[in-house]
Amino acid sequence: MKPDLITQFKSIFQTNETPEVFFAPGRINLIGEHTDYNGGHVFPAAISFGTYAVGRMRQDQKLRFYSLNFPDKAIIECPLNRLDYAKEHDWANYPKGMILALKKLGYNIHSGMDILYYGDIPNGAGLSSSASIEMATGVLLEEFFALNIDRVAMIELGQQVENQYIGVNSGIMDQFAIGMGKQNHALLLDCQTLHYKYAPIKLDNHVIIIMNTNKKRTLAGSKYNERREQCETALEELQKQLSIKTLGELTNELFLSHQQLITNEINRKRARHAVTENQRTLQALEALHEGNLTAFGNLMNASHQSLKDDYEVTGIELDTLVEAAQKQQGVVGARMTGAGFGGCAIAIVEKEQQEAFQQHVNDIYQRKIGYGATFYIASIADGAKKIESSKVL
Ligand code: GLA
Repeated sequence: MKPDLITQFKSIFQTNETPEVFFAPGRINLIGEHTDYNGGHVFPAAISFGTYAVGRMRQDQKLRFYSLNFPDKAIIECPLNRLDYAKEHDWANYPKGMILALKKLGYNIHSGMDILYYGDIPNGAGLSSSASIEMATGVLLEEFFALNIDRVAMIELGQQVENQYIGVNSGIMDQFAIGMGKQNHALLLDCQTLHYKYAPIKLDNHVIIIMNTNKKRTLAGSKYNERREQCETALEELQKQLSIKTLGELTNELFLSHQQLITNEINRKRARHAVTENQRTLQALEALHEGNLTAFGNLMNASHQSLKDDYEVTGIELDTLVEAAQKQQGVVGARMTGAGFGGCAIAIVEKEQQEAFQQHVNDIYQRKIGYGATFYIASIADGAKKIESSKVL
Protein backbone atom coordinates (compact mmCIF):
# COMPACT_ATOMS: atom_id res chain seq x y z
CA MET A 1 0.00 0.00 0.00
CA LYS A 2 1.16 3.50 -0.77
CA PRO A 3 2.51 5.37 2.28
CA ASP A 4 0.95 8.68 3.29
CA LEU A 5 3.37 10.83 1.35
CA ILE A 6 2.37 14.20 2.78
CA THR A 7 2.72 13.06 6.39
CA GLN A 8 6.00 11.35 5.59
CA PHE A 9 7.29 14.48 3.92
CA LYS A 10 6.44 16.65 6.91
CA SER A 11 8.03 14.30 9.35
CA ILE A 12 11.21 13.58 7.38
CA PHE A 13 11.87 17.22 6.55
CA GLN A 14 10.50 18.49 9.87
CA THR A 15 8.07 21.01 8.46
CA ASN A 16 4.40 21.88 8.68
CA GLU A 17 4.32 23.20 5.16
CA THR A 18 2.15 21.16 2.79
CA PRO A 19 4.26 20.08 -0.19
CA GLU A 20 3.20 19.78 -3.81
CA VAL A 21 2.95 16.40 -5.48
CA PHE A 22 4.07 15.25 -8.91
CA PHE A 23 3.95 11.85 -10.55
CA ALA A 24 5.74 10.24 -13.45
CA PRO A 25 4.81 6.75 -14.65
CA GLY A 26 7.02 3.86 -15.63
CA ARG A 27 6.63 2.29 -19.07
CA ILE A 28 6.27 -0.94 -20.94
CA ASN A 29 7.20 -1.33 -24.56
CA LEU A 30 4.71 -3.32 -26.62
CA ILE A 31 7.15 -3.81 -29.49
CA GLY A 32 10.17 -2.08 -31.07
CA GLU A 33 13.06 -3.07 -28.83
CA HIS A 34 16.57 -1.71 -29.22
CA THR A 35 15.36 0.26 -32.21
CA ASP A 36 15.31 3.72 -30.64
CA TYR A 37 19.06 4.40 -30.80
CA ASN A 38 19.05 2.85 -34.28
CA GLY A 39 16.72 5.49 -35.67
CA GLY A 40 13.76 3.13 -35.81
CA HIS A 41 10.27 3.04 -34.30
CA VAL A 42 9.14 2.08 -30.81
CA PHE A 43 5.66 1.41 -29.47
CA PRO A 44 5.66 1.97 -25.70
CA ALA A 45 2.97 2.95 -23.21
CA ALA A 46 3.11 4.59 -19.79
CA ILE A 47 1.82 2.44 -16.93
CA SER A 48 0.13 3.21 -13.64
CA PHE A 49 3.20 2.29 -11.58
CA GLY A 50 5.59 5.19 -11.23
CA THR A 51 7.41 7.70 -9.07
CA TYR A 52 5.98 10.38 -6.83
CA ALA A 53 8.06 13.49 -6.21
CA VAL A 54 6.73 15.47 -3.25
CA GLY A 55 8.47 18.78 -2.73
CA ARG A 56 8.66 22.32 -1.48
CA MET A 57 10.96 25.22 -2.25
CA ARG A 58 13.35 26.40 0.43
CA GLN A 59 14.46 29.91 1.32
CA ASP A 60 18.15 28.94 1.12
CA GLN A 61 20.33 27.17 -1.43
CA LYS A 62 20.18 23.68 0.08
CA LEU A 63 18.89 20.68 -1.83
CA ARG A 64 17.68 17.79 0.29
CA PHE A 65 16.49 14.53 -1.23
CA TYR A 66 14.96 11.53 0.47
CA SER A 67 13.60 8.32 -1.00
CA LEU A 68 11.15 6.11 0.86
CA ASN A 69 12.54 3.29 -1.27
CA PHE A 70 16.07 3.76 0.03
CA PRO A 71 15.65 4.81 3.66
CA ASP A 72 19.14 3.52 4.49
CA LYS A 73 20.55 6.33 2.34
CA ALA A 74 18.85 8.86 4.68
CA ILE A 75 18.58 12.51 3.57
CA ILE A 76 21.01 13.26 0.77
CA GLU A 77 22.04 16.88 0.84
CA CYS A 78 24.00 19.15 -1.48
CA PRO A 79 24.17 22.87 -2.27
CA LEU A 80 22.53 24.18 -5.44
CA ASN A 81 25.89 25.22 -6.84
CA ARG A 82 27.56 21.78 -6.38
CA LEU A 83 25.65 19.47 -8.62
CA ASP A 84 28.43 17.34 -10.07
CA TYR A 85 27.88 13.60 -10.15
CA ALA A 86 28.80 12.09 -6.80
CA LYS A 87 28.92 8.34 -6.32
CA GLU A 88 27.89 8.58 -2.67
CA HIS A 89 24.70 10.40 -3.69
CA ASP A 90 23.54 7.20 -5.32
CA TRP A 91 19.94 7.47 -6.66
CA ALA A 92 19.87 11.25 -5.96
CA ASN A 93 22.20 11.75 -8.92
CA TYR A 94 19.11 11.49 -11.17
CA PRO A 95 17.35 14.57 -9.77
CA LYS A 96 20.69 16.35 -9.39
CA GLY A 97 21.43 15.65 -13.05
CA MET A 98 18.08 17.12 -14.11
CA ILE A 99 18.60 20.29 -12.08
CA LEU A 100 22.13 20.73 -13.43
CA ALA A 101 21.06 20.15 -17.04
CA LEU A 102 18.30 22.76 -16.75
CA LYS A 103 20.63 25.26 -15.11
CA LYS A 104 23.18 24.75 -17.86
CA LEU A 105 20.48 25.60 -20.41
CA GLY A 106 20.03 28.91 -18.62
CA TYR A 107 16.84 28.11 -16.68
CA ASN A 108 16.71 30.08 -13.47
CA ILE A 109 16.59 27.52 -10.68
CA HIS A 110 17.28 29.94 -7.89
CA SER A 111 16.44 28.28 -4.61
CA GLY A 112 16.95 25.07 -2.70
CA MET A 113 14.27 22.40 -2.28
CA ASP A 114 13.25 19.48 -0.14
CA ILE A 115 12.02 16.58 -2.25
CA LEU A 116 10.69 13.23 -1.10
CA TYR A 117 10.50 10.41 -3.65
CA TYR A 118 8.47 7.26 -3.57
CA GLY A 119 8.28 4.76 -6.40
CA ASP A 120 6.03 1.74 -6.77
CA ILE A 121 7.81 0.49 -9.89
CA PRO A 122 9.41 -2.80 -8.92
CA ASN A 123 13.08 -2.02 -8.40
CA GLY A 124 15.44 -3.13 -11.16
CA ALA A 125 12.56 -4.53 -13.21
CA GLY A 126 13.39 -2.69 -16.41
CA LEU A 127 10.20 -0.62 -16.32
CA SER A 128 12.23 2.61 -16.42
CA SER A 129 12.37 3.69 -12.82
CA SER A 130 15.31 5.98 -13.58
CA ALA A 131 13.59 7.84 -16.42
CA SER A 132 10.55 8.04 -14.16
CA ILE A 133 12.58 9.80 -11.44
CA GLU A 134 14.02 12.15 -14.06
CA MET A 135 10.64 13.11 -15.45
CA ALA A 136 8.98 13.41 -12.02
CA THR A 137 11.77 15.83 -11.12
CA GLY A 138 11.34 17.60 -14.45
CA VAL A 139 7.64 18.36 -13.93
CA LEU A 140 8.30 19.47 -10.35
CA LEU A 141 11.00 21.90 -11.48
CA GLU A 142 8.80 23.11 -14.33
CA GLU A 143 6.10 24.11 -11.87
CA PHE A 144 8.30 25.46 -9.06
CA PHE A 145 10.41 27.69 -11.28
CA ALA A 146 7.83 28.47 -13.99
CA LEU A 147 10.23 27.05 -16.56
CA ASN A 148 7.98 27.26 -19.57
CA ILE A 149 9.80 24.35 -21.17
CA ASP A 150 8.55 22.37 -24.12
CA ARG A 151 7.75 18.77 -23.15
CA VAL A 152 9.92 17.27 -25.88
CA ALA A 153 12.82 19.46 -24.73
CA MET A 154 12.38 18.12 -21.21
CA ILE A 155 12.31 14.57 -22.55
CA GLU A 156 15.54 15.17 -24.46
CA LEU A 157 17.08 16.60 -21.33
CA GLY A 158 16.20 13.44 -19.42
CA GLN A 159 17.96 11.37 -22.06
CA GLN A 160 20.96 13.68 -21.93
CA VAL A 161 21.19 13.20 -18.15
CA GLU A 162 21.14 9.45 -18.66
CA ASN A 163 23.80 9.58 -21.40
CA GLN A 164 26.17 12.23 -20.18
CA TYR A 165 25.70 12.44 -16.43
CA ILE A 166 24.85 8.87 -15.45
CA GLY A 167 26.83 7.31 -18.31
CA VAL A 168 24.26 4.98 -19.90
CA ASN A 169 24.03 5.41 -23.64
CA SER A 170 20.27 4.80 -23.78
CA GLY A 171 17.87 6.02 -26.47
CA ILE A 172 14.89 8.35 -26.15
CA MET A 173 12.10 5.80 -25.72
CA ASP A 174 11.78 5.72 -21.94
CA GLN A 175 11.66 9.46 -21.31
CA PHE A 176 9.36 9.92 -24.31
CA ALA A 177 6.85 7.30 -23.17
CA ILE A 178 6.93 8.68 -19.64
CA GLY A 179 6.72 12.30 -20.70
CA MET A 180 4.02 11.85 -23.34
CA GLY A 181 2.00 8.85 -22.15
CA LYS A 182 -1.77 8.90 -22.52
CA GLN A 183 -4.31 6.75 -20.72
CA ASN A 184 -5.33 3.66 -22.71
CA HIS A 185 -3.03 4.60 -25.58
CA ALA A 186 0.35 3.40 -26.75
CA LEU A 187 2.59 5.76 -28.62
CA LEU A 188 4.22 5.03 -31.95
CA LEU A 189 7.39 7.08 -32.03
CA ASP A 190 9.75 7.55 -34.94
CA CYS A 191 12.99 7.95 -33.00
CA GLN A 192 14.76 9.62 -35.90
CA THR A 193 12.33 12.49 -36.41
CA LEU A 194 10.52 12.33 -33.03
CA HIS A 195 7.21 12.33 -34.90
CA TYR A 196 4.69 10.37 -32.91
CA LYS A 197 1.10 9.28 -32.88
CA TYR A 198 -1.14 7.74 -30.27
CA ALA A 199 -2.85 4.42 -30.90
CA PRO A 200 -5.78 3.40 -28.71
CA ILE A 201 -5.16 0.08 -27.01
CA LYS A 202 -8.50 -1.68 -27.09
CA LEU A 203 -7.88 -5.25 -26.17
CA ASP A 204 -11.54 -6.23 -25.78
CA ASN A 205 -11.50 -9.23 -23.52
CA HIS A 206 -7.73 -9.29 -23.04
CA VAL A 207 -5.28 -7.84 -20.53
CA ILE A 208 -1.61 -7.05 -20.68
CA ILE A 209 0.24 -8.96 -17.99
CA ILE A 210 3.66 -7.79 -16.89
CA MET A 211 5.84 -10.70 -15.81
CA ASN A 212 8.83 -9.88 -13.67
CA THR A 213 11.70 -12.39 -13.82
CA ASN A 214 12.83 -11.01 -10.47
CA LYS A 215 16.31 -11.09 -11.89
CA LYS A 216 17.73 -7.66 -11.22
CA ARG A 217 19.41 -5.90 -14.06
CA THR A 218 21.56 -2.83 -14.07
CA LEU A 219 21.79 -1.05 -17.36
CA ALA A 220 25.12 0.64 -16.77
CA GLY A 221 26.88 -2.59 -15.94
CA SER A 222 25.17 -4.52 -18.71
CA LYS A 223 26.02 -5.12 -22.33
CA TYR A 224 23.71 -2.32 -23.45
CA ASN A 225 26.44 0.05 -24.57
CA GLU A 226 28.19 -2.81 -26.37
CA ARG A 227 25.07 -3.59 -28.43
CA ARG A 228 24.84 0.03 -29.40
CA GLU A 229 28.47 0.09 -30.59
CA GLN A 230 27.97 -3.10 -32.58
CA CYS A 231 25.07 -1.50 -34.44
CA GLU A 232 27.12 1.63 -35.08
CA THR A 233 29.95 -0.43 -36.58
CA ALA A 234 27.49 -2.31 -38.79
CA LEU A 235 25.97 0.98 -39.95
CA GLU A 236 29.38 2.42 -40.87
CA GLU A 237 30.06 -0.60 -43.07
CA LEU A 238 26.68 -0.37 -44.78
CA GLN A 239 27.24 3.32 -45.40
CA LYS A 240 30.10 2.41 -47.75
CA GLN A 241 27.43 1.63 -50.34
CA LEU A 242 24.17 2.94 -48.96
CA SER A 243 23.40 6.55 -48.28
CA ILE A 244 21.59 6.05 -45.00
CA LYS A 245 21.91 7.80 -41.66
CA THR A 246 20.47 5.03 -39.49
CA LEU A 247 19.62 1.32 -39.62
CA GLY A 248 16.00 2.39 -39.18
CA GLU A 249 15.94 3.60 -42.78
CA LEU A 250 16.43 0.10 -44.17
CA THR A 251 13.73 -2.24 -45.39
CA ASN A 252 14.30 -5.95 -44.84
CA GLU A 253 14.98 -6.35 -48.59
CA LEU A 254 17.60 -3.61 -48.72
CA PHE A 255 19.29 -5.03 -45.67
CA LEU A 256 19.35 -8.55 -47.12
CA SER A 257 20.90 -7.39 -50.36
CA HIS A 258 23.67 -5.45 -48.56
CA GLN A 259 24.28 -7.39 -45.38
CA GLN A 260 27.49 -8.90 -46.70
CA LEU A 261 29.07 -5.46 -46.27
CA ILE A 262 29.04 -6.12 -42.53
CA THR A 263 32.21 -8.09 -41.99
CA ASN A 264 31.63 -9.34 -38.48
CA GLU A 265 28.95 -11.99 -38.16
CA ILE A 266 27.84 -10.86 -34.71
CA ASN A 267 27.45 -7.26 -35.82
CA ARG A 268 25.44 -8.50 -38.82
CA LYS A 269 23.02 -10.27 -36.49
CA ARG A 270 22.68 -7.17 -34.32
CA ALA A 271 21.88 -5.04 -37.37
CA ARG A 272 19.43 -7.64 -38.66
CA HIS A 273 17.51 -7.40 -35.42
CA ALA A 274 17.43 -3.59 -35.57
CA VAL A 275 16.09 -3.66 -39.14
CA THR A 276 13.54 -6.47 -38.80
CA GLU A 277 12.32 -5.22 -35.42
CA ASN A 278 11.63 -1.80 -36.90
CA GLN A 279 9.56 -3.41 -39.67
CA ARG A 280 7.69 -5.54 -37.14
CA THR A 281 6.84 -2.43 -35.13
CA LEU A 282 5.29 -0.74 -38.15
CA GLN A 283 3.37 -3.90 -39.00
CA ALA A 284 2.19 -4.16 -35.39
CA LEU A 285 0.61 -0.72 -35.58
CA GLU A 286 -1.22 -1.76 -38.74
CA ALA A 287 -2.39 -4.99 -37.14
CA LEU A 288 -3.77 -3.02 -34.23
CA HIS A 289 -5.57 -0.60 -36.55
CA GLU A 290 -7.16 -3.54 -38.30
CA GLY A 291 -8.16 -5.00 -34.95
CA ASN A 292 -6.08 -8.07 -35.77
CA LEU A 293 -4.85 -9.05 -32.32
CA THR A 294 -3.58 -12.42 -33.55
CA ALA A 295 -1.23 -10.76 -36.00
CA PHE A 296 -0.12 -8.35 -33.28
CA GLY A 297 0.65 -11.27 -30.96
CA ASN A 298 2.59 -13.12 -33.64
CA LEU A 299 4.74 -10.03 -34.16
CA MET A 300 5.39 -9.90 -30.40
CA ASN A 301 6.53 -13.52 -30.46
CA ALA A 302 8.78 -12.90 -33.45
CA SER A 303 10.24 -9.88 -31.69
CA HIS A 304 11.23 -12.01 -28.71
CA GLN A 305 12.80 -14.62 -30.95
CA SER A 306 14.90 -11.99 -32.68
CA LEU A 307 15.97 -10.47 -29.36
CA LYS A 308 16.98 -13.96 -28.27
CA ASP A 309 18.79 -15.17 -31.40
CA ASP A 310 20.07 -12.04 -33.12
CA TYR A 311 20.38 -9.46 -30.38
CA GLU A 312 21.14 -11.91 -27.56
CA VAL A 313 19.73 -9.84 -24.74
CA THR A 314 17.22 -12.27 -23.25
CA GLY A 315 18.89 -14.90 -21.06
CA ILE A 316 17.45 -17.99 -19.42
CA GLU A 317 15.05 -16.17 -17.09
CA LEU A 318 13.30 -14.11 -19.78
CA ASP A 319 13.30 -17.01 -22.23
CA THR A 320 11.78 -19.40 -19.71
CA LEU A 321 9.08 -16.92 -18.80
CA VAL A 322 8.21 -15.94 -22.37
CA GLU A 323 8.31 -19.45 -23.78
CA ALA A 324 6.09 -20.70 -20.95
CA ALA A 325 3.71 -17.78 -21.53
CA GLN A 326 3.47 -18.37 -25.27
CA LYS A 327 2.28 -21.95 -24.66
CA GLN A 328 -0.63 -21.06 -22.38
CA GLN A 329 -4.27 -21.04 -23.35
CA GLY A 330 -5.71 -17.68 -24.27
CA VAL A 331 -2.32 -16.07 -24.95
CA VAL A 332 -2.09 -13.81 -27.97
CA GLY A 333 1.65 -13.13 -27.72
CA ALA A 334 4.51 -12.60 -25.29
CA ARG A 335 7.93 -10.97 -25.35
CA MET A 336 10.55 -9.37 -23.17
CA THR A 337 10.16 -5.62 -22.69
CA GLY A 338 12.83 -2.97 -22.15
CA ALA A 339 16.57 -3.49 -22.38
CA GLY A 340 16.57 -7.20 -21.52
CA PHE A 341 19.25 -9.01 -19.49
CA GLY A 342 16.61 -9.84 -16.86
CA GLY A 343 13.82 -7.46 -15.93
CA CYS A 344 10.29 -7.92 -17.27
CA ALA A 345 8.35 -9.51 -20.09
CA ILE A 346 4.77 -8.85 -21.17
CA ALA A 347 1.99 -11.08 -22.44
CA ILE A 348 -1.43 -10.34 -23.89
CA VAL A 349 -3.81 -12.80 -22.30
CA GLU A 350 -7.55 -13.48 -22.40
CA LYS A 351 -9.10 -12.01 -19.26
CA GLU A 352 -10.76 -15.27 -18.33
CA GLN A 353 -7.50 -17.15 -18.48
CA GLN A 354 -5.39 -14.73 -16.47
CA GLU A 355 -5.36 -16.62 -13.20
CA ALA A 356 -4.62 -20.00 -14.72
CA PHE A 357 -1.99 -18.30 -16.87
CA GLN A 358 -0.13 -16.85 -13.91
CA GLN A 359 -0.25 -20.10 -12.01
CA HIS A 360 1.02 -22.25 -14.87
CA VAL A 361 3.72 -19.87 -16.00
CA ASN A 362 4.94 -19.42 -12.46
CA ASP A 363 5.10 -23.18 -11.89
CA ILE A 364 7.25 -23.68 -14.97
CA TYR A 365 9.46 -20.72 -14.07
CA GLN A 366 9.90 -21.74 -10.45
CA ARG A 367 10.81 -25.29 -11.42
CA LYS A 368 13.46 -24.21 -13.91
CA ILE A 369 14.89 -21.06 -12.31
CA GLY A 370 14.53 -21.90 -8.62
CA TYR A 371 12.54 -18.84 -7.57
CA GLY A 372 9.19 -17.37 -8.56
CA ALA A 373 8.18 -14.69 -11.03
CA THR A 374 5.84 -11.81 -10.15
CA PHE A 375 2.81 -10.82 -12.23
CA TYR A 376 1.03 -7.49 -12.53
CA ILE A 377 -1.85 -6.37 -14.72
CA ALA A 378 -0.68 -3.34 -16.67
CA SER A 379 -2.99 -0.40 -16.85
CA ILE A 380 -1.99 2.15 -19.42
CA ALA A 381 -1.80 5.58 -17.87
CA ASP A 382 -1.02 9.24 -18.46
CA GLY A 383 2.43 10.78 -18.66
CA ALA A 384 4.26 12.86 -16.05
CA LYS A 385 2.16 15.55 -14.35
CA LYS A 386 1.31 17.44 -11.20
CA ILE A 387 -1.37 15.82 -9.07
CA GLU A 388 -3.62 17.36 -6.45
CA SER A 389 -2.23 16.76 -2.97
CA SER A 390 -5.71 15.73 -1.84
CA LYS A 391 -5.67 12.88 -4.38
CA VAL A 392 -2.43 11.44 -3.08
CA LEU A 393 -3.85 9.76 0.00
C1 GLA B 1 16.32 0.73 -22.39
C2 GLA B 1 16.73 2.09 -22.93
C3 GLA B 1 15.85 2.49 -24.10
C4 GLA B 1 15.76 1.39 -25.15
C5 GLA B 1 15.45 0.05 -24.49
C6 GLA B 1 15.52 -1.09 -25.48
O1 GLA B 1 15.05 0.81 -21.81
O2 GLA B 1 16.68 3.06 -21.93
O3 GLA B 1 16.32 3.69 -24.66
O4 GLA B 1 16.92 1.33 -25.91
O5 GLA B 1 16.33 -0.24 -23.42
O6 GLA B 1 14.53 -0.97 -26.43
